[in-house]
Amino acid sequence: MTSVLELKGVTRAFNDYIAVNGFDLTVNEGELRCLLGPNGAGKTTSLDLITGRQKLTSGSVHLRGNDITHMSEQQIARQGVGRKFQVPAVFKELSVKDNFEVAFTRERGPFANMAVMRRSDGEARYNEIIEIVGLGDRLEVPAGLLSHGETQWLEIGMVLMQDPSLLLMDEPTAGMTEQETAKTSDIFNELKGTHTLIVVEHDMSFVREIADIITVMHMGSLLAEGTISEIENNSVVREVYLGSEGIS
Ligand SMILES: Nc1ncnc2c1ncn2[C@@H]1O[C@H](COP(=O)(O)OP(=O)(O)O)[C@@H](O)[C@H]1O
Ligand SMILES: [Mg+2]
Repeated sequence: MTSVLELKGVTRAFNDYIAVNGFDLTVNEGELRCLLGPNGAGKTTSLDLITGRQKLTSGSVHLRGNDITHMSEQQIARQGVGRKFQVPAVFKELSVKDNFEVAFTRERGPFANMAVMRRSDGEARYNEIIEIVGLGDRLEVPAGLLSHGETQWLEIGMVLMQDPSLLLMDEPTAGMTEQETAKTSDIFNELKGTHTLIVVEHDMSFVREIADIITVMHMGSLLAEGTISEIENNSVVREVYLGSEGIS
């Protein structure tokens, strides 16, 4: 089986500081991979290197067997890599529905149809995404009036409208209430299996709800990889988190 994503020896130096250092990662079809690690471990930079937002100093990135290491950010997006940023990028004055509709045209010019609408089951898929993110009764509301959680779900929906084959999310539950976080874990559990996702997260209780395999980074490199119980019982991981915000 060809993996969806394969990072080999991925390295990124900023002058003489190495933010990502020989990082290896393989993610398979339908997997939800959690990327964990203390602040400054290199998680966001790794996502930047996958999406082409930043260039690798060395190493390689393959998407479904294709070498995307030297592609531009736009080319990589066209290969089906979708990303939700930490800071939401919704259009506040537009309704939720209109935000969904610009989600794709934003990337590919004003006359393109949304990626999901080009599918033979486009209409059904469009409605399904709205259902998954739970905004069916908020479609006419200006995005600026949504709660923090709803704004995040809108953005997740907008990325899904692009029909990505790999979806990257950086700290999707940041700033959410406990209730919003619980609903977000429902969303991720629904996406799992039919979507391939990498989710960067700090919140261990959230990770516990959604993770298959967890990859822990430390100082730009792979520290540990395994199931939630393997990670929680890993003494090296526990040591790295000691004195920081803790792993529980
Ligand atoms: N553009 C940059 N220039 C210099 N250093 C950077 C830059 N981006 C990130 N870093 C450094 O790289 C390290 C990893 O950052 P980051 O990937 O954001 O970590 P994480 O997301 O795991 O908290 C940090 O020490 C950060 O200060
Ligand atoms: Mg980060």
